[in-house]
Amino acid sequence: MENNEIPIGFIDSGVGGISVLKEAVKLLPMENYIYFGDSKNAPYGTKDVKDVQQLTFNACELLMSYNVKALVIACNTATSAAINEVREKYKFLPVIGIEPALKPAVELDRKGKIIIMATPMTLVEKKFNKLMLNYEKVAEIISLPCPGLVELIEKGIIEGDELEDYIRTRFSSLIEDDIAAVVLGCTHYPFIKKQLLKLLGEDTPILDGSIGTVKQLRKQLDKLGMLNSREGRGKIEILNSLDCPELISLSYKLFNL
Ligand code: DGL
Repeated sequence: MENNEIPIGFIDSGVGGISVLKEAVKLLPMENYIYFGDSKNAPYGTKDVKDVQQLTFNACELLMSYNVKALVIACNTATSAAINEVREKYKFLPVIGIEPALKPAVELDRKGKIIIMATPMTLVEKKFNKLMLNYEKVAEIISLPCPGLVELIEKGIIEGDELEDYIRTRFSSLIEDDIAAVVLGCTHYPFIKKQLLKLLGEDTPILDGSIGTVKQLRKQLDKLGMLNSREGRGKIEILNSLDCPELISLSYKLFNL
C-alpha cells in the first residue's frame, strides 16, 4: 500500500465519533478510514480521568496495530483527558482532537446565552476551562452537563418520547431565556440535533466542533504531503469493542443519516 493510501484512524467511546467521520468523508472522500468505537466502555464522560486516559491509549494502540497515518480523537471527553499524552506518545504522526465550538458560537454575536452541552468530564477538565476563560467576559456561557445522554444514543435512541423528556428536563431552567446558540460538546449529540431544534425552535443555531476538526486534519496531512490524491472514494471500516452486530449496524445507520 502506498503511504498516502494508509487509512486515517478515528476513535470514540462509542458511536459518537461517527458524526466527525461523516464530516471527514465529505471533506476528504478519497481517504481510507478505520473507525473504532469503544462501546464496551461507554460512557467515558462519567469515569475518572486516569481511566479515560488508559482507555484512550488502548483504543489508539489498537488502531496503530492496523497501521494508520493519522489519529483523530473524535471524542471531546477523550480529547480533554488525554490529547497531550497521546501526542507525546505518537510524536511521529498527526494527532487531531476535538473541542466544543465555543469560538464560532461567540462570533455569531447573538443576544442571549450560549449553552454548552457536554459530558461532565469535558466541562470540568482544564482544556475546556481554558477555553471558557477566553470567552466568558464577552458572552454569557452556561455549561450544561448531560450525564445519561450518551447511553441513550448508544442504544440508538435519537428521537421519541424518552429523549424528548430527557432534553426537556435538562433545559427546564433555560427554556424561558433567550438562547443565542447551543454548542454540542460531545460527538454523540449531533445525532439528536432534530430533537433539540424541535424543543428550542428551528432557528436556534446549533454548532459542533467536527468541521473545525476535519479542516485541521486536512491541513496537517497536506503540510506533511500525506493527503491521498487518488481519484474516487476511499474505504471505510468500522470496528467496535463490543462484539455486537447491532452496534455496527447502528454505526452505519448514523453514518448514512
Ligand atoms: N462522544 C464522546 C464525547 O465527545 C462521549 C463521551 C462519553 O462516552 O461519555 O465526549
